[in-house]
Amino acid sequence: MRKKIIIGNWKMHKTQAAAKVFAKETVDLVARAKQDGIILGVAPSYLSLEVVKKHNKRLIVAAQNVHQEEAGAFTGEISLPMLQEIKIGHVILGHSERRQYFNETDAALNLKVNRVLNAGLVPIFCVGETLSEFEAKLTKTVIARQITIGLAGINPALVKKLIVAYEPVWSIGTGKNASPEIAQDICAFIRHELMKMYGKSKANQIHLLYGGSVKPENIKAYLSLQDVDGALVGGASLEVASFTKLVMNLK
Ligand code: 13P
Repeated sequence: MRKKIIIGNWKMHKTQAAAKVFAKETVDLVARAKQDGIILGVAPSYLSLEVVKKHNKRLIVAAQNVHQEEAGAFTGEISLPMLQEIKIGHVILGHSERRQYFNETDAALNLKVNRVLNAGLVPIFCVGETLSEFEAKLTKTVIARQITIGLAGINPALVKKLIVAYEPVWSIGTGKNASPEIAQDICAFIRHELMKMYGKSKANQIHLLYGGSVKPENIKAYLSLQDVDGALVGGASLEVASFTKLVMNLK
């Protein structure tokens, strides 16, 4: 049985002080959600990873990126050993903002995915089409490429740990969320692609999230879909009140 997972992606928001307040104020929420079989997490900036972990021990704390090399002359980057040292277990990879503004390619992301999994961490691998690709009906072509290149060559024993997030670029931060029909169709397609690569039983264990303008008002519609196992939430994860409502509205 796949669990339900809700991860807040804080992007470049929150100082350490603000992250600490959020972490402390959501301790009970995480415990209550767990009783209902819902796993909660957030992805703060690198600087706040330890702060959040320290003040909310059961919240999943994910990094928003990691470099594929262990060490080297890569100014401004963070390595896997650095995340492992502070016991971070999850890493978002290939978010559309990384692909768009930092030129992350499918091939580079494939290296990252494999290194993250082999190091014992869980990648939250993001895929999604742009508005022009959506309008040109290229969604499945784009997703198939992102999946077949980005998730190639994974050690079969580690495939089930993967989390894949479908985030249509046109729905991120725009208030134009994809309809539940689109989310289900594309997540089923992603699972089908993963079945072709790694077999049915492994593909059925992979958690698939939907992301893009998820709000307390629409989260239930997504999480009741057959192939959507959770949500990757931007704006609505920033305030304790709306993060709490996301969870409460699932009941
Ligand atoms: P919004 O929920 O703000 O649309 O952001 C989605 C997102 O990019 C999560 O990674």
